Amino acid sequence: MLTAKNQSENKENKVIQGSEQLFKSIDALNDHYMALTRSVHAELVEKKIVPDIGPFFVTGDGTGKEPVILVGEAPGKDEVSEGRPFVGAAGKILDDLLVRSGIRRDGLYITNTVKYRLARAGKREGTYANRPVKRPEIEICSEWLRAELLYIKPKLVLTLGNTALQGILRCVKTDVPVSESIGDIHGRIIEVSLNGASLDFLLIPLYHPASLIYNRQLKVQYELDLEEVKKCAQSIL
Ligand code: URA
Repeated sequence: MLTAKNQSENKENKVIQGSEQLFKSIDALNDHYMALTRSVHAELVEKKIVPDIGPFFVTGDGTGKEPVILVGEAPGKDEVSEGRPFVGAAGKILDDLLVRSGIRRDGLYITNTVKYRLARAGKREGTYANRPVKRPEIEICSEWLRAELLYIKPKLVLTLGNTALQGILRCVKTDVPVSESIGDIHGRIIEVSLNGASLDFLLIPLYHPASLIYNRQLKVQYELDLEEVKKCAQSIL
């Protein structure tokens, strides 16, 4: 069960320390956490915190051996129908990020903070629309994200948007408090430890490209941040 029992405090960060099991493969890890998350999702439905829909899961895409992890918010309609993160319109976001950062596609494991579509009932019967994430959903999914980080042991992690930033800050140790928002720390290179002992990887929080559509200023900033990612990736990969 993913409950507050699994959490201990470090500075201002709540660090999730789950059972930290060893997994034979990334697929085994995903199967394990999918079953766990399904049962916690059912509890949230019962408490009427989330609608009684799904969960429609999309797990991370990659072999689990990649040096860079990209963490988005949650899969959308296209991702659910293809069973992979960042396809359809979001695929263009991904292509642009790869070109600007110089990171190779085969060096990137792509995942989401919440691994199921944040769905609510759509206007027409039998259809669904996207909804904002609820705080308990970020909390329950952080242990799954931590398990991916422990398994993959990346050198660099890029988060897109506030949900991904909140998800990762909840499950690692850094000098950055959980309350920090993307507007304050986008583009910063942050040293991250998984267990508090030593540097495990570098984290660069980025704006979520989907939020930049109507804001030219933020788009310029996002592109500048990707130049920082490129320099960082060139020096550590
Ligand atoms: N598609 C994803 O898989 N994640 C996002 O955050 C956006 C689109």
